[in-house]
This record gives sequence, structure tokens and C-alpha cells, in this order.
Amino acid sequence: MFSGSEIYGGLANTYDYGPLGAELKNNVKRLWWKYFVQDREDMVGLDGGIILHPKVWEASGHVKNFKDSLVECKKCHHRFRLDKLKDASKCPDCGGPFTEVKMFSGMFKTIIGPVEEEGLITYLRPETAQAMFTNFTNILDSTNKKIPFGIGQMGKAFRNEITTGNFIFRTLEFEQMEIEYFIAPDADWKKIFEDWLKYIYGYADLIGLSRKNFFNHEIPDKERAFYSKRTIDIEYQFPFGQEELWAIAYRTDYDLSQHKKASGKNIEYFDNENKKRYVPHVIEPTFGVDRTILALISQAYTEEKLENGETRVILKFNPIVAPYKVAVFPLLANKEKLILKAREVYSSLKKDFTCFWDDRGNIGKRYRYQDEVGTPCCVTIDFDTLEKDDVTVRDRDTMKQERIKISDLAEYLKEKMEG
Ligand code: GAP
Repeated sequence: MFSGSEIYGGLANTYDYGPLGAELKNNVKRLWWKYFVQDREDMVGLDGGIILHPKVWEASGHVKNFKDSLVECKKCHHRFRLDKLKDASKCPDCGGPFTEVKMFSGMFKTIIGPVEEEGLITYLRPETAQAMFTNFTNILDSTNKKIPFGIGQMGKAFRNEITTGNFIFRTLEFEQMEIEYFIAPDADWKKIFEDWLKYIYGYADLIGLSRKNFFNHEIPDKERAFYSKRTIDIEYQFPFGQEELWAIAYRTDYDLSQHKKASGKNIEYFDNENKKRYVPHVIEPTFGVDRTILALISQAYTEEKLENGETRVILKFNPIVAPYKVAVFPLLANKEKLILKAREVYSSLKKDFTCFWDDRGNIGKRYRYQDEVGTPCCVTIDFDTLEKDDVTVRDRDTMKQERIKISDLAEYLKEKMEG
């Protein structure tokens, strides 16, 4: 991960994902999509826009309500969100007094059209959810889905956050993976909510996030959005404290009803079996991609003291999310026969695994580098390989080495990746 716009001194609270981060992020998203959308018969996907009609944000309540109260310290000029302050009387950083409370919108405004003054003001989406509501009828009309069913979507969201920090925990631009699961108004929502909560934890298991770091924070009545009947913040024990990682909310028929009213369109569902027409209710599981990555990195980061007194740094990722699954090395970089054989092994493994080629420095350094980026297995081609057609496979966590026949290598690695 790099600071955003680093060559210009950086832009606060923005980050770019480098080569390893991009792989990790893609794995998190790909697994989410498969688990939540493709594996379930009652789910379909959507890829909606980032820029939506401004009326969407009026109807959803964001223009009116997506605001935070801000105070500024008169002495050190640090700014805080009022609702995040334990004691709002004095600045926690320097003890100075605060200015009066100001409200500010959490949405980024933008203008459509060549002439700013005449342009249409709209917003970059602060959540992916709304396109799933505005496309509800399109999806009903173009698929064979019957209620209960859900829509899943992932993509960028933007928030003009003032309390930032903690790396990629809270940034201006981030990615969400969200589900709107539509149910009948008289459905047993409590059971459906519980079933979804269980299913969400299956994703934590899938990507290797340990359940012992999770905590379900039931949001009390007075703190919930007025339209929500139940919300749970799924919190995670980050190194800087227990904070929201994902969430699940029962949002009743609020969103679809709001869009029905504002658009004048007949956003309803006709239940053919019971001959009933209604506005569906919705249960919304929501996930932050970047916070998931932060949780994965926090859990995986391990320091181990070696016998020689050195410290070995390892990212103990579950292989399923590891940026690279296998690294392939020729033992020596200046022996052509070794390089040719290693290239052959690398090319054949690349068909099944994301592979990293390394012929720099010595083998010890190459192992250390792979430990630090979380590669589960390293494969080394040495002089014995040329005679016996086998290689050394070194395990990231145990550092144990085994000789494996090249003909068995792909199968052996597949088994190791599945644990
Ligand atoms: N549609 C519901 C919704 O947007 P949210 O709790 O405001 O709910 C959902 O956001 C998830 O998005 C959070 O659980 C978190 O993982 C992620 N998220 C929210 N704001 C974020 C930010 N500024 N930076 C990184 N992730 C953020």
C-alpha cells in the first residue's frame, strides 16, 4: 500500500494498492462474489454507477441526513466529529476550547455539464446500496427471481470523512461489498436476519479471519436509524481497538418506499401465489473491502525469534487470500541449466497458481521476502532437480522443506493451499 499521490507529498486519507495489495484485494472481492452471489440461487449481481441522479440521494435521505457535526479546537485547530468525542467540553489533544458545532455533508459534490453554474449538482455515491434499490424493478423484469431474493454489488464509495486515520480503516475513497435481500413484509425477518448473520461468519471462515476477534455489537433502539428494526455492527479486534468491520441491518421497506414516492414509479412486487402486491422489505449485510484487508493483515502479521537471534516477519495469510500462492527460484541465478528448468516449472505452475519468480540475491533473502508478503510455498530448483526431476518445497509457517517430484508438484501444492 502506498500513500495516495505520494510524489506530490501525499493526499491525506487516500491510499493506493500496490502489486501485492491489488492481488489481496482481488482475492477478497472474488471470494465474496462467489460465496455471496454465485453460490446462492437466491442471489444475483449488479454493477451500478458511482454517479447517480441527485434525486436518488434526496429520496434516500442522504442529502438531508448524511451529515456529521463538527467541532474545531480554537487552540490547536484539530477537528473532531462531535459524536466521536468522549467528552465534548475540551479538546482531547491539547485541552483547548471548541468552536460552536457546525454541520457538514459527508458526500462529495460534483457537477455534471460544461458550465459550472448551469450544471447539475450531484454526488459521488457514499454507499453502493442505492443502485440496488433503483434497479429493483429492472432486475425483477429481467430475471426469474421471486421473493425472497437478493442483489449483491461491490465497488467504490466516497465519504468526506473528518475523523480519519488508522491507515485504511477510514478513508475518503473505499470499496464496499453490499447485499440487499428482499423479503415479504410478513416474512419471519428475525429468522432471516439470524440466517444471514450465520452466513456472514461463513465468509470470515472462508478467508481465514479468526472468529475469536469478532464481536456482534447490537445497536440499541435509540442509536439506530429510525427506519431500522435491528442493526448489528460486526466488530473486529483491530490493533487500535474494537471497531466496526461489517454490519447487518433490517431496513424495513424504507428505501424502496422512498424511491416509490419520489420517482412516482410503481416499485412493488406481485406475489403470484398469494395474489398479493407489496413493497418488499430488506435485510442489508454490508462489508468494507479495505477494513477486511486491514483485519486480514492485522491477524496475519507475526514476528518470530529465530535461533540466530534474528526476527522473522511473516504474514500468515490463509493461502486462499495470499497475494502469491507460490514463489519459484533457481538456486543460483547464473547457471543457465537451472534457470531454464526453473522457468519451465514456473510456466507450468502459473496455469494453476499466482506465482512469483525470483532470482535475485541469495536463497535465504528470497525466503524472507516471501515470508513477509505471505507466500505459502517456495519452490527451489537446484542441481539435484536436473538429475532427479524433483524440487524443494519450503513451507512458509513451519519452514520445513520437502522434496517433491515435478510430476506431483501441482497436486501437492493444491492440497497444501486447501489446508
Ligand atoms: N449501506 C450501508 C452502509 O453504507 P456503513 O456502516 O456506513 O453502512 C458499510 O458502511 C461498511 O463500509 C462499513 O462496515 C465499513 O466496513 C465500510 N466503511 C464505511 N466508511 C468507510 C470509510 N470511510 N473508509 C473505509 N471503509 C468504510
